[in-house]
Amino acid sequence: MYDIIRQLDEKRAAARLGGGEKRIAAQHAKGKLTARERIELLLDPGSFEEWDMFKGHRCTDFGMAGQSVPGDGVVTGYGTVNGRVMFVFSQDFTVFGGSLSEAHAEKICKIMDHAMKVGAPVIGLNDSGGARIQEGVASLGGYADVFQRNVLASGVIPQVSLIMGPCAGGAVYSPAMTDFIFMVKDSSYMFVTGPEVVRTVTHEEVTAEELGGAVTHSSRSGVADLAFENDVEALMMTRRLLGFLPSCNKAKPPTVPTEDTPDRIEMSLDTLVPESPNKPYDIKELIAKVVDERDFFELMPDHARNIVIGFGRMDGESVGFVANQPLVLAGCLDIKSAIKAARFVRFCDAFNIPIVTFVDVPGFMPGTAQEYGGIIKHGAKLLYAYAECTVPKVTVITRKAYGGAYDVMSSKHLRGDVNFAWPSAEIAVMGPKGAVEIIFREEKSDPGRIAAREKEYKEKFANPFIAGHRGFIDDVIMPHETRKRICRSLAMLRHKQLENPWRKHGNIPL
Ligand code: HXC
Repeated sequence: MYDIIRQLDEKRAAARLGGGEKRIAAQHAKGKLTARERIELLLDPGSFEEWDMFKGHRCTDFGMAGQSVPGDGVVTGYGTVNGRVMFVFSQDFTVFGGSLSEAHAEKICKIMDHAMKVGAPVIGLNDSGGARIQEGVASLGGYADVFQRNVLASGVIPQVSLIMGPCAGGAVYSPAMTDFIFMVKDSSYMFVTGPEVVRTVTHEEVTAEELGGAVTHSSRSGVADLAFENDVEALMMTRRLLGFLPSCNKAKPPTVPTEDTPDRIEMSLDTLVPESPNKPYDIKELIAKVVDERDFFELMPDHARNIVIGFGRMDGESVGFVANQPLVLAGCLDIKSAIKAARFVRFCDAFNIPIVTFVDVPGFMPGTAQEYGGIIKHGAKLLYAYAECTVPKVTVITRKAYGGAYDVMSSKHLRGDVNFAWPSAEIAVMGPKGAVEIIFREEKSDPGRIAAREKEYKEKFANPFIAGHRGFIDDVIMPHETRKRICRSLAMLRHKQLENPWRKHGNIPL
């Protein structure tokens, strides 16, 4: 028995070495951790249970016979993050460049199937040269097997992708279908076709980093939710993100006890909105001041900055925040911001996370770029997302809520559960200036008269009381008591029951 145990130890040690010390050193030299080191940091210490450590590929073509490496370029299994079960796969770049073979794909599929069975998240650590070239279509089939599972798991268990090395070609579509993508600056990239193909086809000169690096995707394209300085930071932030999420769509997110009392008053909020309606202010200040312990986990901070999304907690319970940002494009809704917020709202809805919306929106962004780009269709995504959403929805209008954007931003009419306004709220079809220029066009040449009309319009419509009179606003609240009022509303809504009519699925404008 002693010999047999020793042999097992040796086999394990060989598997843990992956592609060997030289390749591990090369991985470290690139500033990257190995597949196993990453898992160690992601999961609670000592909690990792590895599966299929000895699995190898079955390819015999192109010199692959007898070239099997135990594990075949991916480390898979499960462990815990803050005590909760999570499934994980971590591609090992030291083994055939982390390329995906049929066996490699089978390992990933196995943990995804188990995650679905037990209702636990899947975290994918991607670092791969793509399809195992020697295996041809067997590898492509393996990718499709993973894609199919990504789709069936969508909205059932949270799926998080970390891009920690190459991720190119069709391989990008597995992360693309997961809920969140985190990237590491300077050591990861994602693109459908690389710089060489781009040069040949479109004659553009672009580096891999410019084309598909972490900064590009977290700011320009919006493919990535966050970009981090290194592997360690990305893994730590993944742990933090997971803390806001439930294990599956049938569970609630974990409650985190807090000493921050729900009825905390924040007097400085009374002066947050400037007197002039055209002066901006930072909506993130409002979020920071109402959320538990000022702990706001913002997603996509550098993409479509005119809308802010992210997670926080109110009285210990996970909440998704959506807020127009007056500091950027005056908080207008445009194509990118509508898409960004719509996907977030749908994530929260799928995973039982209540949504708090802060509204200060002068309307949709005008211009040919927006119209030709399809703002009609893309803006409708956000409207659709809020309208189909059945989790608790609490809305606070801080200043402007004009036109269609008023309707879109979690209004009462889209089944907003509790809709508050600050006294500074202006709820109208449009701003006073534009409104007067249209309805009193014939008085245009008389500035004094126009100014008087503007004043009249402002007094009549640019306040929250007309909406309050109709019941579209449940209460006009003091800014300083915003946290208390939201916490009470969420507590009241904790057992909210609401179901949409049965259907196979809706047809959200894509
Ligand atoms: C087999 C691969 C591989 C692959 C890398 N390797 N990619 N083996 N299949 N796809 C191997 C290398 O031969 C090498 O083996 C080791 O991994 C490390 O690779 P290097 O090239 O030395 O590393 P580096 O210089 O860092 O370059 C990394 C890389 C490059 C940019 C990823 O390896 C590369 O371009 N690989 C090919 C990428 C590719 O075209 N993949 C197919 C894409 S199409 P040794 O033994 O020397 O260590 C695709 C379709 C998916 O993925 C479709 C899904 C629907």
